[in-house]
Amino acid sequence: MQKLIYLFTYWFLLTTFFVSCGTSNTQAVEEEDLNSLREAFAADFTIGTAISAPQIMGEDAKAAALIATEFNSLTPENVMKWMHIHPRPEEYDFELPDKLLELAQAQDKELIAHTLVWHSQLAPWVNEISDSTELAELLAKHINTIVGRYKGKVAGWDVVNEALNEDGTLRETIFLNLLGKDYLPTAFKLAAAVDPDTELYYNDYNLCQPEKRAGCVQLVKDIQAAGAKIDGVGIQAHWNLSGPPLEEIEASILAYHALGVKVMFTELDIGVLPNPWDLDGANVNQDFENSEFMNPYPQILPDAVQTQLADRYEGVFKLFLKHSDKISRVTFWGVHDGHSWLNNWPINGRTNYPLLFDENYQKKEAYHRVMALKESIEH
Ligand code: XIL
Repeated sequence: MQKLIYLFTYWFLLTTFFVSCGTSNTQAVEEEDLNSLREAFAADFTIGTAISAPQIMGEDAKAAALIATEFNSLTPENVMKWMHIHPRPEEYDFELPDKLLELAQAQDKELIAHTLVWHSQLAPWVNEISDSTELAELLAKHINTIVGRYKGKVAGWDVVNEALNEDGTLRETIFLNLLGKDYLPTAFKLAAAVDPDTELYYNDYNLCQPEKRAGCVQLVKDIQAAGAKIDGVGIQAHWNLSGPPLEEIEASILAYHALGVKVMFTELDIGVLPNPWDLDGANVNQDFENSEFMNPYPQILPDAVQTQLADRYEGVFKLFLKHSDKISRVTFWGVHDGHSWLNNWPINGRTNYPLLFDENYQKKEAYHRVMALKESIEH
């Protein structure tokens, strides 16, 4: 009996010792190492966010605190787009881009500049041009001026944005119509000539869909074959709870990596609201209107959907970690739900919940699940 008690005490002391070691290790990892997304994924990829004009101007102190703590890469949500940065032929507006650069430098974060050549949010006067020489000269001037101003200070440029149709063919834009498909390598060559050290990307949405992926692979090959430098493909990643499937995301990471370029997820958000394009044909136009059906969670996201969102984010980040050797950056399109562009697109005035921080700047279940991936790996 004496012996049994002795053995039991020994076993008890031993287990208590190991359990308490385990607990203190967990605490150490959580408290010291994993205080933010950028720290948790530091060995894997940079973690970025898109910053709006009010956030650049520091008008939102709570957003500023999250930006400072959680992210190590910043992209301007709008202020470097053509209509803002080059609003009239002889007029550039560098005020907010300069402020953003200051913010990035002060906090030792990289600046990703978005975007040089895009048919959308183009200054209206550009669309009036009908002469190809005039447009070619303008494109060169635009790129030289803007890339030149930020030479040596920008980690990477989205040189061309959204040049592809859904079937993988080139989208008809003023650039394609007047300059032909050479406008793509030309834009990359112009940017590289001004700032040889900055990275240059092609950026688009739906790049995980097979037809568009094939188009993007061809587009990158054509740019490379023309002797232009291209460093990466930016997969925008405006996704939803069910799509695109993880298999297609993985196939895309592999396909773009095989071209010898970096893969990045540049505008990640996961919408939880009905998508008008998923509904049946005849309803589509009608459903672009706001309605109770299209805006089901105006006050609060039900727990079950919150968990679905967390599951989806966990699945996506597990895949990102599996291919972290190929992925250089993951950027969220916005800081918190309250400010997401998805509250007003494709339908105005809805309440969406696509990010890791809620409208009160609090960490969501999805945030904790993404962080837990690293906590469990550390052990
Ligand atoms: C969006 C901004 O978030 C909105 O504020 C703006 O009104 C429209 O553009 N693809 C892109 C981004 O490359 O620049 C877009 O940003 C979202 C889709």
